[in-house]
Amino acid sequence: MICITFILARMKFETLAVHAGAEPDPATAALAPPIHLSTTFQHAPDGAALHGFTYVRDGNPTQSRLEESLAAIDSAAAALAFASGMAASAALLQSLPRGAHVLIPEDGYYAVRALARDYFPRWGLEHDLVPMDDVDAVRAKVRDTTRVLWAESPSNPLMKICDLGALAELAHGRGAMLVVDGTFATPALQRPIEFGADAVMHSMTKYLGGHSDVQGGSIAFKERGALFEAVEQTRTIVGGVASPFNCWLILRGIRSLAARMRVHSSNARAVAEFLAQHPAVEVVHYPALPSHPGHQIAKRQMSDFSGMLSFRMKSGREAAIALTGKLNVFKCATSLGGVESLIEHRASSEGPGSTTPENLLRVSVGLEHPDDLIDDLRQALG
Ligand SMILES: Cc1ncc(COP(=O)(O)O)c(C=O)c1O
Repeated sequence: MICITFILARMKFETLAVHAGAEPDPATAALAPPIHLSTTFQHAPDGAALHGFTYVRDGNPTQSRLEESLAAIDSAAAALAFASGMAASAALLQSLPRGAHVLIPEDGYYAVRALARDYFPRWGLEHDLVPMDDVDAVRAKVRDTTRVLWAESPSNPLMKICDLGALAELAHGRGAMLVVDGTFATPALQRPIEFGADAVMHSMTKYLGGHSDVQGGSIAFKERGALFEAVEQTRTIVGGVASPFNCWLILRGIRSLAARMRVHSSNARAVAEFLAQHPAVEVVHYPALPSHPGHQIAKRQMSDFSGMLSFRMKSGREAAIALTGKLNVFKCATSLGGVESLIEHRASSEGPGSTTPENLLRVSVGLEHPDDLIDDLRQALG
């Protein structure tokens, strides 16, 4: 175990994704890991754990394997798995001291804004919404009590790109931490800790699971220090833990993450280029396009541009909604990161209070052949 961990420390992402947390089962030598469903573990008469585990909510062997993998693929010292991306986000934010101030992206995942608006006051936290892709605007909002800059890059659904290195420097200069929601990029394409972030959150429900059949969230930490301890304690007490079966499914998804992200990215690029030249389309938000305002920063901090994009229809809301109904290969559904291509009218999915433009459609480009995806869009735009 020590030996393989040592060897893996020098390996490339693809190798880490396949081998981290994949030691053969010591009891049977099985290569596919067992799922330990037990909620409780025999302990010594004085309560001491015999093999490091006592109760499922505190930790369990399948979750430990997943966390070993998550830390390795995100260049982190340690990682924690949760029941969902929101359980992970909430656990980190609930671990902050009362009176802490948090900067939240004004265009990021809408449920994080809802968390800040509806729950921060109950937890004694304060927040401001900021354009996280504008470092000067962020700097102007930092207070002495600011503890976290919460960045999302690329952002959902406008695909804005944050300069992670500049935000880390800004945060650290003011005694705060940079936490990055890296769900759209995944650790295969962007590892924020390498740019100075203190922690990275992923909704594992998306690309890490990869097949639209499992929910989970993760936080990877630059250091196994005070923040890690506090968030682990919050998970244990508040209880947003992932089930062993979900941990197992996500671990299986991570094994093929690098290969899937290559195809998601090349398919999305083909779809984005097709849409960008179509006369019915006002603008395409996809950071691979040189016209995207964050293109240069994305090129610096991402190895490819992922499978997520959004675009706006010239003729407005109704035309956008009507388009989704004419597609055959793309399915009308929310969520993202699975093998199948999805499209949604994002403002409708976000519901009342959404700030997403009404003519915007969000697309999760899947693993189908790009020609079939483009043909489907061409006939629907027709
Ligand atoms: C960017 C982003 N962050 C966080 C989440 C929340 O993840 P979950 O649905 O697993 O709670 C989502 C979900 O869509 C997301 O898109």
